[in-house]
Amino acid sequence: MSNYHIKQFEEYFQVYRKSVRNPEQFWEEIAEEHFVWRKKWTNVLSWDFKKPEVKWYEGAKLNITENCLDRHLRTRGDKTAILFEPNDPNEPAEHISYIQLHERVCKFANVLKEKGIKKGDRVCIYLPMIPELAVSLLACARIGAIHSVVFAGFSATALSTRINDSDCKMVITADGSYRGAKTIDLKGIVDEALNDTPGVESVLVAKRINSDINMKEGRDFWLQTLLDEAYQDCDIEIMDAEDPLFILYTSGSTGMPKGMMHTCGGYMVYTAYTFKNVFQYTEKDVYWCTADIGWITGHSYIVYGPLCNGATTVMFEGVPSYPDFGRFWEIVEKHKVNQFYTAPTAIRALAKEGVEHLEKHDLSSIKVLGTVGEPINEEAWHWYDDNVGKKKAPIVDTWWQTETGGIMITPIAFATPTKPTYATLPFIGIQPALMDENGKEIKGNQVDGRLCVKFPWPSMARTIWGNHQRYKDTYFSAYENMYFTGDGALRDEVGYYRITGRVDDVIIVSGHNLGTAPIEDAINEHPAVSESAIVGFPHDVKGNALYGYVTLKETGESRNHDNLRKEINQLITEQIGPIAKLDKIQFTNGLPKTRSGKIMRRILRKIACNETDQLGDTSTLLNPEVVEEIIDNVI
Ligand code: WTA
Repeated sequence: MSNYHIKQFEEYFQVYRKSVRNPEQFWEEIAEEHFVWRKKWTNVLSWDFKKPEVKWYEGAKLNITENCLDRHLRTRGDKTAILFEPNDPNEPAEHISYIQLHERVCKFANVLKEKGIKKGDRVCIYLPMIPELAVSLLACARIGAIHSVVFAGFSATALSTRINDSDCKMVITADGSYRGAKTIDLKGIVDEALNDTPGVESVLVAKRINSDINMKEGRDFWLQTLLDEAYQDCDIEIMDAEDPLFILYTSGSTGMPKGMMHTCGGYMVYTAYTFKNVFQYTEKDVYWCTADIGWITGHSYIVYGPLCNGATTVMFEGVPSYPDFGRFWEIVEKHKVNQFYTAPTAIRALAKEGVEHLEKHDLSSIKVLGTVGEPINEEAWHWYDDNVGKKKAPIVDTWWQTETGGIMITPIAFATPTKPTYATLPFIGIQPALMDENGKEIKGNQVDGRLCVKFPWPSMARTIWGNHQRYKDTYFSAYENMYFTGDGALRDEVGYYRITGRVDDVIIVSGHNLGTAPIEDAINEHPAVSESAIVGFPHDVKGNALYGYVTLKETGESRNHDNLRKEINQLITEQIGPIAKLDKIQFTNGLPKTRSGKIMRRILRKIACNETDQLGDTSTLLNPEVVEEIIDNVI
């Protein structure tokens, strides 16, 4: 019997040891006993980090939606699969049972087929957090189409770049979306993006806000009309374990966002197994992850992981501040949420509002609290523990990435003793390593280094869509035979890990990864700008905010700086989205550079963080004099 449900700390160690001593046997047992396969694998794992190439469950046949839907119909068909809580608290919540979800997915899948979508085609999904979003992921998966969800807060430019990078044939969107008291013209953004996307043949439009939108004849179709005519059964497409399931873009330190490609078999096994154990989900629980499905957290821990376990998963359309900052707690009380999973930036925003909102609601249903997306500071951790969990609900601080597909370093609720700001121990099967700058592994405890993983796990991304070389360069070249995460971490005296943050030029703002390069590219498009550099600085709520240093062309000097700041932020909003706007913009006559011409972001970061006493030796710079000037004019 495999250890599918771990309940105690001792058991964790036992299972962990088993999983690293004989990974193939371990992952074979888990896969065999807890999932539906149409054909068994011929080989559990083959891997080579040098190439790099990783394959799990090679030769196996399956469909993830059979595991998420069909297999539950008999045992829990009437159980709520998705509990949809709308933006407007006065609009009733929708309870979608497994039987209903299955039917909706089948119909949607038939619509996709009818519009010419086949196995292997890419479908871009640009939807707000409404049930159609989850349904469209599953509909694609059912027929073997590869979904590429783009977060509906991204701009038209960001959307079209992503559509083109993976050559999507179809876009699924809505007439608009609600965001608190505002509505957003999603279809307008899609129309703009589609000016420049030759591969898109059709657009399916869900009705959400009933706005009067432009529908392009022959290209745009109302989703509901097609669903009304669609047949309600749809056989699964039988997929190879290593066939692509989806692409999801994540920012890198340079260049284009990276389309991380995940595959069917390993992703299914690992997200389901982590979900069950990390959150200790039991049959009657109501689980709520507040992330957007536009991010990996939503893919793995709103949709696939929970549904594979037959869970009830809450999908919330709105924002924590609407109609007021009590909204999350109202929802917890209303639906008696048992597991609550959110991000440090949300915790900090809620903590700022005090505890009155909390006191108005009964939060006694909460058993487990989770956090993800960035390091959680000690104050936020305690606020969460004291006020939300009332010191009774363990906090699972889950470290992972778009690239890893599932949770990697985490406590197991009720088993692993927690420690504020520590993600604690590797999940079953995960073999982390800390590396020094010379490429040597740092052994022992009370050490810090760069976080790597030594051995493959089932849900790791297999490549960057269309660019395997970049996959190799980014993740497998820094250290021999290791997956490099881009994060720094320390290991304490008992072996617990604390993630200290990115060691590259990715800045995490409100839990969103932002690469510096695309933002700088957007700024540099301004006709008055000559050069720019972005760094992060600490921010109470967002974790980090962005500080931009900008040099102007001669002609720009006479321009009004406040207007320029507005124009720069406008450009960023258009190219990337409002999440990437700069909080501070300093105009300067130069940027500190090495003799080889590299911008010294480290120095700029120290200045933005008010740590000018830690600049180190600047005399070897190409232009040491600009450092003084920048310090004198810091904002
Ligand atoms: C950071 C989100 C500290 C980290 C699932 C990682 C964290 C990046 C944590 C991935 C955590 C995520 N503690 N840092 N618990 N979780 N991170 O791809 O820097 O959006 O590399 O995946 O977020 O962000 P991504």
